[in-house]
Amino acid sequence: MRFYEKQGVPFHSGFLPFLGHYYELIKFQKKNNPTLHPLIEYIQTYFDQKPPVFSGIIFSQRLCLFVNRPEALRELFVSKNRFFDKHPSSGNILKKIAGDSIAFQKSNQIWAKKRKVISSSLYKQKLIVMLDIMKEIVLETKDQWAKQGTIDIVQETSNMMMTIILACAFGRQNENPLINYKEKGEIRQIQLGQALSTNLGRAIEREFQPYLIFFPELFPYYLSILDQEVKYNAEQVIEYIRKIIQIKRVNFAQTGHYEGDDLLSVLLQDDVFQDSDQMIIDECITFFIAGSQTIAVAISNFLSYMAQSQEHENQIRMEFGKLLQNYGMDIQKLAQELDLRKIEEFEYLKCCYNETLRIEPPLIISSSVQLTEDQQIAGVNIKQDDMLIINIYQIHHNKDQWIDDEKFIPERFNPQSQYYLTPAGTQRDQFSFVPFLGGKRICLGKTFAENAFKIIVPLLMNNYKFVLCDDKQKIQKPFFNAIMFKRPQVFMKLERIN
Ligand code: HEM
Repeated sequence: MRFYEKQGVPFHSGFLPFLGHYYELIKFQKKNNPTLHPLIEYIQTYFDQKPPVFSGIIFSQRLCLFVNRPEALRELFVSKNRFFDKHPSSGNILKKIAGDSIAFQKSNQIWAKKRKVISSSLYKQKLIVMLDIMKEIVLETKDQWAKQGTIDIVQETSNMMMTIILACAFGRQNENPLINYKEKGEIRQIQLGQALSTNLGRAIEREFQPYLIFFPELFPYYLSILDQEVKYNAEQVIEYIRKIIQIKRVNFAQTGHYEGDDLLSVLLQDDVFQDSDQMIIDECITFFIAGSQTIAVAISNFLSYMAQSQEHENQIRMEFGKLLQNYGMDIQKLAQELDLRKIEEFEYLKCCYNETLRIEPPLIISSSVQLTEDQQIAGVNIKQDDMLIINIYQIHHNKDQWIDDEKFIPERFNPQSQYYLTPAGTQRDQFSFVPFLGGKRICLGKTFAENAFKIIVPLLMNNYKFVLCDDKQKIQKPFFNAIMFKRPQVFMKLERIN
């Protein structure tokens, strides 16, 4: 801690031996009841909303530096990116769930090979097939929503995206089966997507258990009841995927080919993955974890912002009307019309997408990262192996870079607009907008996510308007991101329009 304090990196007050800043954080949590994320709001409050480039905290006996401003990112993502890597603790949290998946392993040769294979499974013909599956599921879901009339958009977009991602991962026949799930000592059957996402939340919660705060070296051992349930549930999911793999292998032995362009079939045919069921399972689970809730958050937040602003909604509808022949008409024809070339033309929708990701990034912080050699970043000497966390939320709300940072203003992403510049009228730092991080560990699903958003949104908005039911939420919608412990409820009514 001294090493960094001497260089001017501020640490929070209230440090206690063994406990670090844990006690302070608990006090903060009790007093402020943070909704965003305890650590992020703690940093914001402590620095009066203007944190420095780096701020330090000792949590669970580990020193952690938060990167709060874009200045450090140019070096981390570009000039010193070869030293940028995942910290071993990033994988510990989800070890039982996602094993050694590319999202958490170190940047070595095998990571690069796996990343290449998975990237290619999300491009060209395979992407087109996935987008077709997506359209089918959106149309089915929208029908149900219209019949229901009022829906909790947070829950419903999450269910829809889970179905889509599972169908893309395992094929439509396996998109949401029932599996065993254990909670508070009771075993019941729930849908695979629900089991995966709920267990994920509980795995993250695990880190905050007092016994692991005091003895972090016990992390790999699953000792408490919560731990054991997380482990049991993870094993149920793994077993289920193992069974699908077996079925696909048997079919292959009989027919000589793998059916479908789902991720699992692609991996089963690839040299890198072919011989390791465990490797395939880890990547399919990661695809689900990384892809489903992030896109669901973006869609649900976007629809809420549209419902808050008639002006933005009108502009989006005008763009759809101008570019899509079948907009406002038959939804099946509209679905056919929406292809990769067409969705490239959506300029205003793209601004709204970016603004949605800026104002409420689906991942508000990165996992823990590190440098593999001692390096100077933004004038501070950082020791190799020390833990860094990129504070995406704070970077997206940096008051030096964003005019009225709390307001939803899609024009910020239009070079013709005054909002494209900083409050001082200068060019914005390009690393002020990093919803997918950057450098070699940039999100692998960035393009897939954008395509999904641009296909799903026009289909949802066609002939229907999403109206917020709660008057209070029309002014202030509840904050929502993918790593919240408790998700908010946002009720919306679907009103038919012509
Ligand atoms: C709007 C949607 C999405 C957002 C905002 C998002 C954001 C991110 C961020 C911030 C990271 C870095 C995580 C970290 O280091 O802590 C990441 C990594 C990753 N994302 Fe996404 N993501 C989105 C959608 C997706 C989708 C749809 C997929 C899969 C198709 C995906 C797959 C991945 C993978 C595999 C990684 C790890 C890459 C690596 O470390 O090599 N993401 N994403």
